Amino acid sequence: MVLFSHLASVNALVVGANGGIGLGFVQALLKLDHVLSVVAFYRQTDTSQALLALQTEYPERLHCLAVDLTDEASLVAGINQMRPLTNRLHLVINCVGVLHDHLVQPEKSLQQINAAQLTHYFQVNSMSAILLAKHLLPLLNHEEQSIFATLSAKIGSIGDNQLGGWYGYRASKAALNMLLKTASIEYARKSKNTSIVMLHPGTTDTGLSKPFSRSVPPDKLFSVERCVNQLLKVLESVTPKENGCFFSWDGTQLPW
Ligand SMILES: NC(=O)c1ccc[n+]([C@@H]2O[C@H](COP(=O)([O-])OP(=O)(O)OC[C@H]3O[C@@H](n4cnc5c(N)ncnc54)[C@H](OP(=O)(O)O)[C@@H]3O)[C@@H](O)[C@H]2O)c1
Repeated sequence: MVLFSHLASVNALVVGANGGIGLGFVQALLKLDHVLSVVAFYRQTDTSQALLALQTEYPERLHCLAVDLTDEASLVAGINQMRPLTNRLHLVINCVGVLHDHLVQPEKSLQQINAAQLTHYFQVNSMSAILLAKHLLPLLNHEEQSIFATLSAKIGSIGDNQLGGWYGYRASKAALNMLLKTASIEYARKSKNTSIVMLHPGTTDTGLSKPFSRSVPPDKLFSVERCVNQLLKVLESVTPKENGCFFSWDGTQLPW
Protein backbone atom coordinates (compact mmCIF):
# COMPACT_ATOMS: atom_id res chain seq x y z
CA MET A 1 0.00 0.00 0.00
CA VAL A 2 1.08 3.61 -0.58
CA LEU A 3 0.32 6.44 1.83
CA PHE A 4 -2.98 8.17 0.93
CA SER A 5 -3.39 5.98 -2.17
CA HIS A 6 -7.16 6.67 -1.99
CA LEU A 7 -6.49 10.35 -2.77
CA ALA A 8 -5.84 11.66 -6.28
CA SER A 9 -3.43 14.31 -5.04
CA VAL A 10 -1.69 14.98 -1.76
CA ASN A 11 -0.14 18.13 -0.30
CA ALA A 12 2.51 17.64 2.37
CA LEU A 13 4.44 19.87 4.75
CA VAL A 14 7.74 18.69 6.24
CA VAL A 15 9.03 20.77 9.14
CA GLY A 16 12.70 20.53 10.08
CA ALA A 17 13.09 19.48 6.45
CA ASN A 18 16.86 19.95 6.36
CA GLY A 19 17.54 17.54 9.26
CA GLY A 20 18.53 13.90 8.84
CA ILE A 21 15.05 12.38 9.05
CA GLY A 22 13.27 15.49 7.70
CA LEU A 23 15.29 15.47 4.48
CA GLY A 24 14.66 11.73 4.16
CA PHE A 25 10.91 12.41 4.28
CA VAL A 26 11.17 15.15 1.65
CA GLN A 27 13.07 12.80 -0.68
CA ALA A 28 10.64 9.91 -0.13
CA LEU A 29 7.53 12.06 -0.64
CA LEU A 30 8.89 13.54 -3.88
CA LYS A 31 9.19 9.98 -5.23
CA LEU A 32 5.41 9.49 -4.86
CA ASP A 33 3.64 10.67 -8.01
CA HIS A 34 0.38 11.51 -6.28
CA VAL A 35 2.17 13.91 -3.92
CA LEU A 36 1.46 17.12 -5.77
CA SER A 37 3.41 19.48 -3.55
CA VAL A 38 5.87 19.28 -0.69
CA VAL A 39 6.39 22.42 1.37
CA ALA A 40 9.62 22.24 3.36
CA PHE A 41 10.23 24.47 6.39
CA TYR A 42 13.90 24.90 7.30
CA ARG A 43 15.53 27.26 9.78
CA GLN A 44 18.81 28.41 8.27
CA THR A 45 20.40 28.33 4.83
CA ASP A 46 23.90 27.23 5.84
CA THR A 47 22.70 23.86 7.22
CA SER A 48 20.11 23.32 4.47
CA GLN A 49 22.21 23.05 1.30
CA ALA A 50 21.10 19.49 0.43
CA LEU A 51 17.45 20.49 0.78
CA LEU A 52 17.85 23.67 -1.25
CA ALA A 53 19.68 21.73 -3.98
CA LEU A 54 16.64 19.43 -4.27
CA GLN A 55 14.51 22.46 -5.06
CA THR A 56 16.31 22.91 -8.38
CA GLU A 57 15.55 19.25 -9.18
CA TYR A 58 11.82 19.61 -8.34
CA PRO A 59 11.00 23.29 -9.00
CA GLU A 60 7.27 22.61 -9.52
CA ARG A 61 6.63 20.34 -6.53
CA LEU A 62 9.09 21.35 -3.79
CA HIS A 63 8.75 24.72 -2.06
CA CYS A 64 11.32 25.56 0.62
CA LEU A 65 10.46 28.29 3.11
CA ALA A 66 12.70 29.66 5.87
CA VAL A 67 10.83 29.46 9.18
CA ASP A 68 12.12 29.53 12.74
CA LEU A 69 9.68 27.34 14.62
CA THR A 70 10.73 28.72 17.99
CA ASP A 71 9.45 32.16 16.94
CA GLU A 72 5.65 32.24 16.58
CA ALA A 73 5.72 35.34 14.33
CA SER A 74 8.11 33.55 11.95
CA LEU A 75 5.85 30.49 11.94
CA VAL A 76 2.77 32.57 11.12
CA ALA A 77 4.66 34.37 8.34
CA GLY A 78 5.77 30.99 6.90
CA ILE A 79 2.21 29.65 6.94
CA ASN A 80 0.97 32.82 5.20
CA GLN A 81 3.64 32.32 2.52
CA MET A 82 2.48 28.73 2.12
CA ARG A 83 -1.21 29.55 1.58
CA PRO A 84 -0.91 30.60 -2.08
CA LEU A 85 0.95 27.32 -2.74
CA THR A 86 -1.61 25.12 -1.01
CA ASN A 87 -4.75 25.89 0.94
CA ARG A 88 -5.18 22.32 2.22
CA LEU A 89 -2.69 19.90 3.74
CA HIS A 90 -3.05 16.12 3.91
CA LEU A 91 0.19 15.35 5.71
CA VAL A 92 2.34 17.32 8.13
CA ILE A 93 5.53 15.71 9.42
CA ASN A 94 7.31 17.69 12.08
CA CYS A 95 10.93 16.52 12.40
CA VAL A 96 12.27 19.34 14.57
CA GLY A 97 14.08 18.29 17.71
CA VAL A 98 17.26 18.83 19.69
CA LEU A 99 19.28 16.47 21.86
CA HIS A 100 22.59 18.34 21.79
CA ASP A 101 23.75 21.62 20.27
CA HIS A 102 25.88 24.63 21.26
CA LEU A 103 23.39 25.37 24.07
CA VAL A 104 22.53 21.92 25.49
CA GLN A 105 24.06 18.53 26.19
CA PRO A 106 22.04 15.67 27.69
CA GLU A 107 22.38 15.71 31.49
CA LYS A 108 23.83 12.62 33.17
CA SER A 109 23.04 13.73 36.72
CA LEU A 110 21.02 16.25 38.74
CA GLN A 111 24.20 18.31 39.16
CA GLN A 112 24.13 19.09 35.43
CA ILE A 113 20.57 20.43 35.44
CA ASN A 114 20.14 24.13 34.76
CA ALA A 115 17.07 26.16 33.93
CA ALA A 116 18.39 27.68 30.68
CA GLN A 117 19.09 24.23 29.20
CA LEU A 118 15.69 22.93 30.27
CA THR A 119 14.02 25.97 28.69
CA HIS A 120 15.84 25.33 25.41
CA TYR A 121 14.78 21.66 25.34
CA PHE A 122 11.15 22.58 26.02
CA GLN A 123 11.15 25.41 23.50
CA VAL A 124 12.51 23.32 20.62
CA ASN A 125 11.06 19.89 21.42
CA SER A 126 7.68 20.70 22.97
CA MET A 127 6.46 24.26 22.36
CA SER A 128 7.29 24.46 18.67
CA ALA A 129 5.07 21.44 17.87
CA ILE A 130 2.03 22.74 19.72
CA LEU A 131 2.39 26.12 17.99
CA LEU A 132 2.35 24.26 14.67
CA ALA A 133 -0.81 22.41 15.72
CA LYS A 134 -2.35 25.75 16.72
CA HIS A 135 -1.69 27.47 13.41
CA LEU A 136 -2.14 24.56 10.98
CA LEU A 137 -5.65 23.53 12.02
CA PRO A 138 -7.37 25.57 9.27
CA LEU A 139 -5.19 23.96 6.60
CA LEU A 140 -5.72 20.42 7.91
CA ASN A 141 -9.48 20.84 8.33
CA HIS A 142 -11.14 19.74 5.07
CA GLU A 143 -13.32 16.89 3.83
CA GLU A 144 -10.38 14.59 2.95
CA GLN A 145 -8.21 12.67 5.43
CA SER A 146 -5.26 14.48 7.00
CA ILE A 147 -2.46 13.50 9.40
CA PHE A 148 -0.38 15.70 11.67
CA ALA A 149 2.64 13.58 12.69
CA THR A 150 5.41 14.69 15.00
CA LEU A 151 8.61 12.85 15.73
CA SER A 152 8.72 12.15 19.43
CA ALA A 153 10.98 9.57 21.12
CA LYS A 154 10.43 6.44 23.18
CA ILE A 155 12.75 7.98 25.76
CA GLY A 156 9.89 10.44 26.44
CA SER A 157 7.72 7.58 27.69
CA ILE A 158 7.34 7.97 31.47
CA GLY A 159 6.14 4.37 31.82
CA ASP A 160 9.18 3.04 29.95
CA ASN A 161 11.83 5.07 31.84
CA GLN A 162 14.14 2.59 33.52
CA LEU A 163 17.57 4.11 32.87
CA GLY A 164 17.17 7.72 34.01
CA GLY A 165 19.44 10.52 32.77
CA TRP A 166 18.84 12.90 29.84
CA TYR A 167 16.38 14.87 31.98
CA GLY A 168 15.63 17.72 29.61
CA TYR A 169 15.28 15.64 26.44
CA ARG A 170 13.08 13.02 28.16
CA ALA A 171 10.89 15.61 29.85
CA SER A 172 10.50 17.75 26.73
CA LYS A 173 9.40 14.72 24.70
CA ALA A 174 6.95 13.71 27.48
CA ALA A 175 5.60 17.29 27.41
CA LEU A 176 5.37 17.12 23.61
CA ASN A 177 3.28 13.95 23.91
CA MET A 178 0.93 15.52 26.47
CA LEU A 179 0.53 18.74 24.48
CA LEU A 180 -0.31 16.88 21.27
CA LYS A 181 -2.52 14.29 22.98
CA THR A 182 -4.49 17.24 24.35
CA ALA A 183 -4.57 18.92 20.92
CA SER A 184 -5.85 15.65 19.41
CA ILE A 185 -8.96 15.91 21.60
CA GLU A 186 -9.65 19.46 20.44
CA TYR A 187 -8.93 18.50 16.81
CA ALA A 188 -11.47 15.65 17.08
CA ARG A 189 -14.10 18.34 17.65
CA LYS A 190 -12.84 20.95 15.21
CA SER A 191 -11.14 18.97 12.41
CA LYS A 192 -12.70 15.52 12.49
CA ASN A 193 -10.80 14.03 9.53
CA THR A 194 -7.39 14.79 11.05
CA SER A 195 -5.31 12.37 13.13
CA ILE A 196 -2.56 13.71 15.34
CA VAL A 197 0.09 11.05 15.94
CA MET A 198 3.44 10.92 17.68
CA LEU A 199 6.14 8.69 16.17
CA HIS A 200 9.24 7.08 17.65
CA PRO A 201 11.64 6.58 14.71
CA GLY A 202 14.02 4.15 16.44
CA THR A 203 17.69 5.05 16.74
CA THR A 204 18.54 6.48 13.33
CA ASP A 205 21.90 7.45 11.91
CA THR A 206 21.75 11.26 11.92
CA GLY A 207 23.68 14.14 13.50
CA LEU A 208 21.36 13.92 16.51
CA SER A 209 22.30 10.33 17.39
CA LYS A 210 25.91 10.36 16.14
CA PRO A 211 27.69 11.12 19.47
CA PHE A 212 25.75 8.33 21.22
CA SER A 213 25.43 5.63 18.57
CA ARG A 214 28.78 3.84 19.04
CA SER A 215 27.26 1.40 21.53
CA VAL A 216 24.20 0.71 19.34
CA PRO A 217 24.43 -2.66 17.51
CA PRO A 218 24.47 -2.06 13.71
CA ASP A 219 21.14 -3.85 13.19
CA LYS A 220 19.51 -1.48 15.74
CA LEU A 221 20.85 1.69 14.09
CA PHE A 222 18.54 2.50 11.18
CA SER A 223 19.61 4.30 8.03
CA VAL A 224 17.49 7.38 7.32
CA GLU A 225 15.96 5.62 4.31
CA ARG A 226 14.92 2.60 6.40
CA CYS A 227 13.57 4.83 9.16
CA VAL A 228 11.47 6.89 6.74
CA ASN A 229 10.11 3.80 4.95
CA GLN A 230 9.12 2.28 8.29
CA LEU A 231 7.40 5.46 9.45
CA LEU A 232 5.55 5.89 6.14
CA LYS A 233 4.27 2.33 6.60
CA VAL A 234 3.01 3.23 10.09
CA LEU A 235 1.31 6.34 8.68
CA GLU A 236 -0.41 4.26 5.97
CA SER A 237 -2.46 2.50 8.64
CA VAL A 238 -3.46 5.69 10.49
CA THR A 239 -7.16 6.59 10.33
CA PRO A 240 -9.08 9.15 12.42
CA LYS A 241 -9.51 6.30 14.98
CA GLU A 242 -5.76 6.50 15.68
CA ASN A 243 -6.01 10.19 16.57
CA GLY A 244 -3.86 10.89 19.66
CA CYS A 245 -1.74 7.70 19.50
CA PHE A 246 2.00 7.31 20.17
CA PHE A 247 3.50 4.79 17.72
CA SER A 248 6.87 3.12 17.54
CA TRP A 249 8.59 2.56 14.17
CA ASP A 250 7.17 -0.98 13.96
CA GLY A 251 3.58 0.18 14.33
CA THR A 252 3.17 -0.91 17.97
CA GLN A 253 1.76 1.63 20.42
CA LEU A 254 4.06 2.91 23.15
CA PRO A 255 3.10 3.49 26.78
CA TRP A 256 2.85 7.12 27.86
N1 LIG B 1 17.92 10.16 15.19
C1 LIG B 1 17.45 9.44 16.17
O1 LIG B 1 18.03 8.41 16.56
C2 LIG B 1 16.17 9.82 16.85
C3 LIG B 1 15.64 8.96 17.83
C4 LIG B 1 14.44 9.31 18.46
C5 LIG B 1 13.80 10.48 18.12
N2 LIG B 1 14.32 11.31 17.17
C6 LIG B 1 13.61 12.56 16.86
O2 LIG B 1 13.46 12.68 15.46
C7 LIG B 1 13.43 14.07 15.09
C8 LIG B 1 14.41 14.31 13.93
O3 LIG B 1 15.72 14.02 14.40
P1 LIG B 1 16.99 13.85 13.43
O4 LIG B 1 17.65 12.61 13.88
O5 LIG B 1 16.59 14.02 12.04
O6 LIG B 1 17.87 15.08 13.95
P2 LIG B 1 18.70 16.19 13.17
O7 LIG B 1 19.30 15.64 11.94
O8 LIG B 1 19.57 16.81 14.19
O9 LIG B 1 17.53 17.23 12.73
C9 LIG B 1 16.93 18.04 13.72
C10 LIG B 1 16.05 19.10 13.07
O10 LIG B 1 15.57 19.96 14.12
C11 LIG B 1 15.92 21.32 13.81
N3 LIG B 1 16.28 22.09 15.01
C12 LIG B 1 17.21 21.76 15.92
N4 LIG B 1 17.33 22.76 16.83
C13 LIG B 1 16.45 23.73 16.47
C14 LIG B 1 16.11 24.99 16.99
N5 LIG B 1 16.73 25.50 18.07
N6 LIG B 1 15.16 25.71 16.38
C15 LIG B 1 14.55 25.23 15.26
N7 LIG B 1 14.84 24.03 14.70
C16 LIG B 1 15.78 23.30 15.30
C17 LIG B 1 17.15 21.19 12.92
O11 LIG B 1 17.33 22.39 12.20
P3 LIG B 1 18.81 23.08 12.13
O12 LIG B 1 19.60 22.22 11.20
O13 LIG B 1 18.52 24.43 11.64
O14 LIG B 1 19.35 23.05 13.53
C18 LIG B 1 16.80 19.99 12.08
O15 LIG B 1 15.93 20.37 11.04
C19 LIG B 1 13.75 14.85 16.38
O16 LIG B 1 12.55 15.29 16.95
C20 LIG B 1 14.38 13.80 17.28
O17 LIG B 1 14.19 14.09 18.65
C21 LIG B 1 15.49 11.01 16.52
